[in-house]
Amino acid sequence: MTASIMVNNDMPNASIPENHAHCISVMGAAGGVGATSLCVQIAHNMALESQKNTNRSERTKEPRICLIDLDFEGGACSHHLDLAPNMSISDLTGSTDGIDRAFVSALTSTHSSGLDLIATPNSLGGNDIVNPSAIVSLLDVVSQIYDHIVIDVPRYWRPWNIAAIGASDRFIILAELTIPALHLARMKMNAIEEKLGEHIRAEIVINKFERRSFRNALRQKDAEIALKREITATVCIDTDTLRDAINCGEPAGVVRPESRYVKDTRKLHKFLLPDQIKGKRSAA
Ligand SMILES: Nc1ncnc2c1ncn2[C@@H]1O[C@H](COP(=O)(O)OP(=O)(O)O)[C@@H](O)[C@H]1O
Ligand SMILES: [Mg+2]
Repeated sequence: MTASIMVNNDMPNASIPENHAHCISVMGAAGGVGATSLCVQIAHNMALESQKNTNRSERTKEPRICLIDLDFEGGACSHHLDLAPNMSISDLTGSTDGIDRAFVSALTSTHSSGLDLIATPNSLGGNDIVNPSAIVSLLDVVSQIYDHIVIDVPRYWRPWNIAAIGASDRFIILAELTIPALHLARMKMNAIEEKLGEHIRAEIVINKFERRSFRNALRQKDAEIALKREITATVCIDTDTLRDAINCGEPAGVVRPESRYVKDTRKLHKFLLPDQIKGKRSAA
């Protein structure tokens, strides 16, 4: 992930440093499709996975998983994790001077699973007053500190979103099987891919997926025809689990670790991991 290069050329550069963080960004096609819930759960899955793979003596090393909420007006990651955001909007409205490792380390909040959150308290008009260059500098520093980054990208267009998406290794557009959500997914997929060229390919994931089929319900095949693209994955509808999670201020993986929702998100996050990590795990 190298976001700064994008601000200069408006296009990502192929020269990504070898030890860059692996970054997954998620944008909801429409409001309420479940993007924030999915980001929180993927980051939590990664934190648990990282604990398993790290022996005790190494646990005190630098944190490895970071969740970033890029919505400064309507963000909800901090509520999902019941964490107070440590960064304030004024940290991101000024110049890029001083946005370094010490700045980032001081302004993260840490969940009991070990995952770090970067978010600000919401403020009206917050997305209009932040300095896009400050956010890009922040993303660059974060990518030097962590191994895995998950970014909750607001669904409304902002100058820094394209930098975040273009610098990601994987980019998910999350939709539901409804006509408005699929229309928006197609519009966003085409616009973003046109802007970023071959640097990024959107993975379409359908959330709130019902295995049973109802009269008048859309099917996965309908979505694939409408989008002219295969669906990468589906995540089941699981209202009870998601309600418990948000009301307890804990990821679904804490409240109901064996729920179908958590299992589906685990499958998805494993699919999204870089090939060398997948290879190591299957060899183990
Ligand atoms: N797979 C799911 N099954 C049932 N409800 C879900 C699922 N995913 C998300 N939700 C619910 O949908 C609502 C919107 O979720 P949220 O993550 O805030 O969406 P977004 O960030 O896309 O606006 C919340 O009430 C959440 O609990
Ligand atoms: Mg959201």
